[in-house]
Amino acid sequence: MLKIALIQKKGGVGKTTLTVLLREAIQKTGQAVAIRDYDSQGSASKVLEKLGGIKETPGQIYSILLIDTPPSLILPATAAAVKDADIILIPTSPSPVDIWEADEAARFVASRNSKALVRIVLNRTKSGTLLTDAAGENLSGLSVPVLPVSLADRQSYQHALLGGWNALDSKAQKELLQFTVAVTSLR
Ligand SMILES: Nc1ncnc2c1ncn2[C@@H]1O[C@H](COP(=O)(O)OP(=O)(O)O)[C@@H](O)[C@H]1O
Ligand SMILES: [Mg+2]
Repeated sequence: MLKIALIQKKGGVGKTTLTVLLREAIQKTGQAVAIRDYDSQGSASKVLEKLGGIKETPGQIYSILLIDTPPSLILPATAAAVKDADIILIPTSPSPVDIWEADEAARFVASRNSKALVRIVLNRTKSGTLLTDAAGENLSGLSVPVLPVSLADRQSYQHALLGGWNALDSKAQKELLQFTVAVTSLR
C-alpha cells in the first residue's frame, strides 16, 4: 500500500483539495484508493460524504492511501502522517517567499522520516504571470526537489470538491492525470 501524505504548516495551500483531486484521478485508473482524514476540521471527510468516496477502513489494504493533515507540522496527527508516509507532498503557491517556507517544512519532515520521498508541489500557478515563470529560477538550492508537474489555479478544481471528476473540464482532467502519474510514479 502506497501512502501519500499532504503536509504543510499553514492552511489554505491546497492540502485537502489535492487529496480529493488525487483520489478522483487515481479512482479513474481503477486502483483501490481511500482517504485518511487526520485534519480535525474534517473537510476531506465532508467532501467524501458528498462524492460517495471511500474513507479508510482501518485494517483494510488499498493500492493507495491518501492522508490529509491539519495545518501544522508539530501536531501529533501530522507527526503520525509523516512517520507513516512513503511519499510526502508539500503544496505551496508559486511565490518565492512561499516556496522558501515550503522548503523549511520539507526539511523538517525529511528529518522526521528519512525514507519518505518528499516533494514540493506548486499549486495555483497562473500561466504567463511573473511568479510562475520566475518560480523555476527561484527553485535552485532547495533541500527537496519540486515535482515537475504543477497544478494551475482553476475554478473547476473547486467544482470538483462538489462534483468529483465529472466537474473537471478536459484541460483540468489532463493536467490532473499528469500530476497523478508524476506523484504515483515516484515509487
Ligand atoms: N489549484 C487550485 N485552483 C483553484 N482553487 C484552489 C486550488 N487549490 C486550492 N484551491 C482553493 O484554495 C482554498 C484552500 O484550499 P484547501 O485545499 O482547503 O487548503 P488546505 O487544506 O491546505 O487548508 C480552497 O477554497 C480551495 O478551493
Ligand atoms: Mg485542509
